[in-house]
Amino acid sequence: QQIFKANPSYAIGDPTQLQNALLNLAINARDAMPEGGVLTFETKIVELDEKFCGTKGEKLVPGKYIEISVLDTGTGMSEETQKRIFEPFFTTKECGKGTGMGLAAVYGTVKNHKGVIDVFSKIGEGTTFRVCLPLASPVCGVMEEETAEAVNINKKLRLLLVDDEDIVCAIGKEMLEMGGHSVYVCRNGRDAVEFYKNNWEDTELVILDMVMPQLNGAETFKLLKDINPEAKVLLSSGYSITGEAQKLLDQGANGFIQKPFTSQELAKSIAEIFSDRGLYEYK
Ligand SMILES: Nc1ncnc2c1ncn2[C@@H]1O[C@H](COP(=O)(O)OP(=O)(O)OP(=O)(O)O)[C@@H](O)[C@H]1O
Ligand SMILES: [Mg+2]
Repeated sequence: QQIFKANPSYAIGDPTQLQNALLNLAINARDAMPEGGVLTFETKIVELDEKFCGTKGEKLVPGKYIEISVLDTGTGMSEETQKRIFEPFFTTKECGKGTGMGLAAVYGTVKNHKGVIDVFSKIGEGTTFRVCLPLASPVCGVMEEETAEAVNINKKLRLLLVDDEDIVCAIGKEMLEMGGHSVYVCRNGRDAVEFYKNNWEDTELVILDMVMPQLNGAETFKLLKDINPEAKVLLSSGYSITGEAQKLLDQGANGFIQKPFTSQELAKSIAEIFSDRGLYEYK
């Protein structure tokens, strides 16, 4: 059964890991219903407030989340079992059947994506696993199916990421660092220009938001180019490519990426900029 109410429903992360996590939950649900039953996937948008986040011990940021629930009408679990299910190697399945690593991995994945997982269960009635992942911001339109194109990164870059939005900075930085790059983040154009003035020789690429208060992307771009006419700049915007962005591309900006982007899209945009130097290759 499917009840999909999350719209928009875009979360940023590693699709393979997330798929595996959902698969693990589904397999557990199936195993809990040897006589058959109903397996339900449900999604909706929820707002996690400070109070809730505070009870979670981990550093959970209040805000909008996509809630993905996997419900079964199976055996359910005792309180005792519920307390231990996320422990590695904890299993109630007979020897050779379960490794007990399923939920430990799910827990790790959800945590890596800055989300949270809960369980509700009653013996004889069934179990619900509820996963909440941060909703991608700021624009959540319909995304095209992603082509699974692997990008081979042969060089680690020093990058300057300029964006006025918390979530873009946080996720962007993490994605880039996962790709092995080192990242300096500026929250506005003025800081970016100041940083670039002192560090342009050690900055191989600037990822620049188009829409920012005070100094916007276009103005910042011009000042960066005044400092270093060879500056490499990847423009980013929540809007699709506009006249403004096109103008900057004509003036020598090196690329454009639409937010929200996946790590895959980001890696690809960067690779395209550096492909001429042979630092990257496509597989
Ligand atoms: N939907 C569920 N209903 C009832 N019990 C569950 C459910 N999901 C998990 N459990 C309990 O939690 C335990 C741990 O689950 P986990 O997925 O970590 O390991 P496993 O399924 O036993 O082994 P494997 O790693 O091979 O999947 C299970 O053995 C089971 O007792
Ligand atoms: Mg399992």
